[in-house]
Amino acid sequence: VITIPVALTDRPYDVIVGPGAIGALADVLPAGARRAAIVTQAGIGVEVDPGIEHRTFLIGTGEDTKTLAAVEDLCRQWAQWGLNRADVVVAVGGGMVTDVAGFAAAVFHRGVAVVHVSTTLLGQIDAAIGGKTGVNLPEGKNLVGAFWQPSAVLCDTDLLVSLSPEELRSGMGEMAKYHFLDDGSHGPGRLDELPFDEQVARCVAIKAAVVAGDEREDGRRATLNYGHTLGHALEIATDFRLRHGEGVAIGLVYAAELARVLGRIDDQRVAEHRRVVGGYDLPATLPDGLDPDQLVALFGRDKKAIDGVTFVLDGPRGVETVVGVERAAIDAAFEAMRLAPEETP
Ligand SMILES: NC(=O)c1ccc[n+]([C@@H]2O[C@H](COP(=O)([O-])OP(=O)(O)OC[C@H]3O[C@@H](n4cnc5c(N)ncnc54)[C@H](O)[C@@H]3O)[C@@H](O)[C@H]2O)c1
Ligand SMILES: [Zn+2]
Repeated sequence: VITIPVALTDRPYDVIVGPGAIGALADVLPAGARRAAIVTQAGIGVEVDPGIEHRTFLIGTGEDTKTLAAVEDLCRQWAQWGLNRADVVVAVGGGMVTDVAGFAAAVFHRGVAVVHVSTTLLGQIDAAIGGKTGVNLPEGKNLVGAFWQPSAVLCDTDLLVSLSPEELRSGMGEMAKYHFLDDGSHGPGRLDELPFDEQVARCVAIKAAVVAGDEREDGRRATLNYGHTLGHALEIATDFRLRHGEGVAIGLVYAAELARVLGRIDDQRVAEHRRVVGGYDLPATLPDGLDPDQLVALFGRDKKAIDGVTFVLDGPRGVETVVGVERAAIDAAFEAMRLAPEETP
């Protein structure tokens, strides 16, 4: 296994990546914890042994059960069991479980330690790392939450074998993103040429470095949204027929085309985006029948875009936030997406 330290100033912790990482659970529990509340979903089927008294609590499956009611439900069951501040919550699942259990841990008794045992690829390389927790409101996703850093994260890559191909692909889209955030400081070798476990570990290291440099603010953290501006819009415009990672994959290629239109990167770098996305067997073309006006409206939805849209784009200094991208450039990049499949070998 590979241990990646997350160098937060007040609460550093380790992420343990590799086959069998789950076996380290008892060793990473906070000293003095008497009881472990294990939170998971029916159907995940991952057994963990915290080595102390424990009980399992199930939450629902699917985004529509990622609610404040689920948090209340967990907290009430924990209270009835007698879980207290010195104990620990162990979240065993994908991003949905670590977000819900992590948020419940953040607020129960004003904060109980949590250890994430992440069981999806997207969770291992993204959702379980970084300390963001939360739930949805009918008004929008992840609108209520807290920063609550785990005491440790276990990313056992053996657990990914039971993932559905769709879930695996969704994680691959996120992995493709990290290819372009890798500045070479996390070890030798190109991300997509490493053995799988090392790819997961490299992604964790990249996210950990961004998070440690910018625990709460959205400066460097914004680079983690590379490919997500169009990606999110595509998820919504297709009624979530496109999975998150697929939207991100198309969004990465679009962001490359847009960066080329703006003169920030050259043809070769665009080709690199297409090669990486294709290498993970992800889509690189826009689904048919989408209305550019609708997509542009979705780009600007969160922020009032007066002078153009804000994007995260590649460029001479690497991936960074670019404000004020104008409609003409946005449309030129759409056009490049439409033409490219025939043009590029
Ligand atoms: N906190 C963050 O920084 C952050 C970052 C990205 C995403 N997220 C959140 O993560 C969630 C998505 O996470 P996800 O993609 O992991 O989806 P998920 O947690 O909903 O899991 C997807 C499905 O796979 C099942 N599953 C999980 N592990 C399995 C395994 N080992 N074998 C078989 N089935 C398994 C789950 O029960 C579920 O049905 C979203 O709610 C999103 O908002 C949070
Ligand atoms: Zn994402």
